[in-house]
Amino acid sequence: MRKKIIAGNWKMNKNHTESGTLAQSIVEKVSGIRGVDVVLCPPFTSLSPVGEAIKGSTVALGAQNMHWEKEGAYTGEISANMLLTLGCQFVILGHSERRAYFHESDEIVAKKVNAAIQAGLTPIVCVGETREEREKEITKEVVKRQVTGAFRELTADEFEGTVIAYEPVWAIGTGLTATSEQAQEVHEFIRRHIAGMFGSDLAESTRIQYGGSMKPGNARELLAQADIDGGLIGGAALDAGSFEGIIRAAL
Ligand code: 13P
Repeated sequence: MRKKIIAGNWKMNKNHTESGTLAQSIVEKVSGIRGVDVVLCPPFTSLSPVGEAIKGSTVALGAQNMHWEKEGAYTGEISANMLLTLGCQFVILGHSERRAYFHESDEIVAKKVNAAIQAGLTPIVCVGETREEREKEITKEVVKRQVTGAFRELTADEFEGTVIAYEPVWAIGTGLTATSEQAQEVHEFIRRHIAGMFGSDLAESTRIQYGGSMKPGNARELLAQADIDGGLIGGAALDAGSFEGIIRAAL
């Protein structure tokens, strides 16, 4: 049985003071909950205050991106080790906003995934099709290319524990959610593809989150699907009450 994992991707929201306050209020709301893994992914500038706020709780810390090199002349970049020493366990990689606005290719995502795993961080690797790709009925091809691209250099041992997030681009921040049937169909497809790459045992234990306008009102139905093992939450993660509602829907 896969334990559900709900992660908040705060994107470029909340300064370091606001972040500490939000994290504290989330910790208060979810303190008794043991059945779901909860991860907060604030901006880099807020990792420290959020790390402080979640100390001693079951809530884990994640970042939204990282560079693939260990250190060096990469102005503006952050390494896996910097994230680890701030207490991060997770890092979101290959988010569609990074792919679209910062030209992250499957090759770049793969380099980051490899570096994260080598360093001991758990990647949350995002895949998903655009509206045009869905209309052209090439969703599965696109997702297959992204999954293969991100993990092609990994051994099964290295891949183990990695989290995948299926985020249809057309559902992100739009209020349009994939129906539970649409999401389940792609999740099942991803799991089968992982089985082809790494074997069915690993595919069965891999957690695949859904992301894209997930809210307390639609979370329960999505999370009830056989292959949906959690959520990667944007907008609704910025409100402690809504985030709590989604976490409770995962119980
Ligand atoms: P929204 O929940 O705001 O649609 O964002 C989803 C997302 O991109 C999480 O990574």
